[in-house]
Amino acid sequence: MAAADEEQQLLHLKLAFLAREPPSCVLSLARKAGGGSVTPPVQNFILANCTGNNAWGDQKCTYVTTILKRIIAEAELSSDIVIDGLYEEFGQFMSSKSHLQNNSSLNRTEKIYREISFLSPTDDNKLVSLVARLSCSTNMLEGDTGCSLWPSSLFLSEFILSYPKIFSKKCCFELGSGVGLVGVCLNYVGASKVILTDGDVSTLENMKANMEMNKLCVEKEGSQLLKENKNKVQCKYLSWEEASESVLSDCMPDLVLGADIIYDPVCVPHLIRVLSMLLRRGNNRGTNNVANKEEISNEFSSTATEAPVAYIATVIRNVETFNCFEKAAADANFSVVNITNSEAPSSLLPYMLSYDRSSVQLLKITLST
Ligand SMILES: C[S@@+](CC[C@H](N)C(=O)[O-])C[C@H]1O[C@@H](n2cnc3c(N)ncnc32)[C@H](O)[C@@H]1O
Repeated sequence: MAAADEEQQLLHLKLAFLAREPPSCVLSLARKAGGGSVTPPVQNFILANCTGNNAWGDQKCTYVTTILKRIIAEAELSSDIVIDGLYEEFGQFMSSKSHLQNNSSLNRTEKIYREISFLSPTDDNKLVSLVARLSCSTNMLEGDTGCSLWPSSLFLSEFILSYPKIFSKKCCFELGSGVGLVGVCLNYVGASKVILTDGDVSTLENMKANMEMNKLCVEKEGSQLLKENKNKVQCKYLSWEEASESVLSDCMPDLVLGADIIYDPVCVPHLIRVLSMLLRRGNNRGTNNVANKEEISNEFSSTATEAPVAYIATVIRNVETFNCFEKAAADANFSVVNITNSEAPSSLLPYMLSYDRSSVQLLKITLST
């Protein structure tokens, strides 16, 4: 194997581990890096760059133990030498694991720390351009599903990083933001304002903590100090059922985003109503009063006359639900264009074997005039 290929495969292995990819995916990358089996050099790499890195403390214990166990078993089976360090590390994790299992708090849903590393679109996938640090739940249903990371937000993030000019200097407003990954990407590409929202209180708390973990200030109402801080986001409670014109009165976004928010037919009419208010508000921007006009023309100087656009990434799990969305969108006079292929994002997460990009559709929505 060429040295450059080997280097890239080892990088993918490390990034998959940091992203907490399922153990079977990490193992598959380890095998690939070893040219078919988990060779001693690959085992050494894992020890030095993955499991031996103790930055996460007890949190990664179960995950690391599983990976070490599978790698040892696989190497033994393929009659590769198992390096001593791997056995020692496994022994250590087993003893700390049994200590943790005595702790009753482990029985509750666990939060895991994930590092999602986006590879640079311009350097042949060899350099990491952005790392988002996220606390996610092991329970997909926690926080009304908002404490887990869903494939649509990976796709939407790849789209943002692939087409940064669409988002740079724009006021971006996300619905159902969950763990907040899209917000980290929007800030990275220089959005002028990032407003993340969710209708679940525990999801919102987790999202705020995630923004702080990524050194983004969570803006508090009227805080002068934060007005000057470029790296800031707003995290707001917004339930689609409760949202009214007055609740959205501060928001005149250039762009509205959403990932994996079309999945419950009961919510669809409310989602359409909120989208309609946001897209219409932007259309009316600047007509309310003079002070407003000045503020807006300063902040959105290059875009003040453009109509707002919504980008919604979605996995169609249930065709009927999606049809229901399309019908409600047509009734609301939306133009919905599927841009999954015509504006396909670069693949920036090639090491994430569990992420099925082909399952995600990207919709561009505007209000027909
Ligand atoms: C499947 S998760 C997607 C989270 C995130 N966008 C992602 O892709 O990783 C759906 C999100 O929408 C939020 N949500 C669902 N119904 C909602 C409603 N009626 N009002 C506001 N937020 C809602 C949930 O709280 C959750 O965070």
